[in-house]
Amino acid sequence: MITGAFGQVGKALSRLLSFKFNITKTDLIIPKAESGLILDVTNLMLCREVIDIVKPDVIVNLASKTDVDACEANTELAFSINVGGVKNLMSIFSGPIIHLSTDYVFNGDNGPYSEDDATDPINVYGFSKLASEKTVLNGHNNNLVIRTNVVYDYCVGTQASFLNWVVNSLREGKEISVVKDQWNNPTWTDSLAVVVKRAIDSGLTGIAHWGDGDWISRFDFALKIANIFELDKKLIKPINTDELRQVAPRPLKGGLKTDYVQKALNLEPPTLEESLKSIKARLES
Ligand SMILES: NC(=O)c1ccc[n+]([C@@H]2O[C@H](COP(=O)([O-])OP(=O)(O)OC[C@H]3O[C@@H](n4cnc5c(N)ncnc54)[C@H](OP(=O)(O)O)[C@@H]3O)[C@@H](O)[C@H]2O)c1
Repeated sequence: MITGAFGQVGKALSRLLSFKFNITKTDLIIPKAESGLILDVTNLMLCREVIDIVKPDVIVNLASKTDVDACEANTELAFSINVGGVKNLMSIFSGPIIHLSTDYVFNGDNGPYSEDDATDPINVYGFSKLASEKTVLNGHNNNLVIRTNVVYDYCVGTQASFLNWVVNSLREGKEISVVKDQWNNPTWTDSLAVVVKRAIDSGLTGIAHWGDGDWISRFDFALKIANIFELDKKLIKPINTDELRQVAPRPLKGGLKTDYVQKALNLEPPTLEESLKSIKARLES
């Protein structure tokens, strides 16, 4: 059973897992032409009903408040979804839970980070995700937390994707400002989906980091997108994070080291170029 299944990660994960498993997709809203069960993870009664109907072997918990500035503006809401949601699931379900988390549990002073580096969140989203990890790992020792970062795909019908924003803006000839001082290893949803699938197959537990092969600034990520999608890179202007005056502070040098998962699941992270070329080919097919 997947919660938050119609979000960015959920779409790729559902596509991949459905080849092998009988999956049930749940989310706040089920899009037209899709099938799934409505589940607000903050609603304990509903969690009980849905888990009772589905009787899952494994729950992949993607349900989350992911808007970092909205979390900063409403701490209570962020914690009720990001921590209260998984608490509800765990109060009913005693099987393995795979829970997604983020490199925002670190302060961004000296990323990329490995699994045993000290956490030190600097915004509400990061604090709520760290608290969610502790809940998940203190519950059962068959649970897994996968931390990832800057997840992307070209998603039709969403405003939230960085790739959509860059491609669509440049296609329309619009100038965009992109931060040059935030560093991560952007992660294609399909690459993350493979990690989740292999983690289910192998019964991996504990904390695992996943991100793709290139550790770069967001500005260079945008340039790479322009390059692969053959768009005008002169429209991309570098900017510093503090110039954006965002509500929530951002960790600057983030990102995740993946040596542990590479070894444990026998996987190589794809390069950014490989992933962007695959996405472009899929869009053109
Ligand atoms: N995207 C990234 O760059 C990134 C990076 C690191 C970690 N992660 C983690 O990866 C996981 C999936 O992220 P994503 O990128 O797929 O995010 P997303 O696109 O925002 O998907 C999250 C899904 O959860 C749903 N949701 C929100 N509140 C809920 C509730 N109370 N009950 C049930 N569902 C609820 C959302 O619905 P609405 O859209 O209607 O709110 C959405 O469909 C999250 O745990 C996130 O923290 C993401």
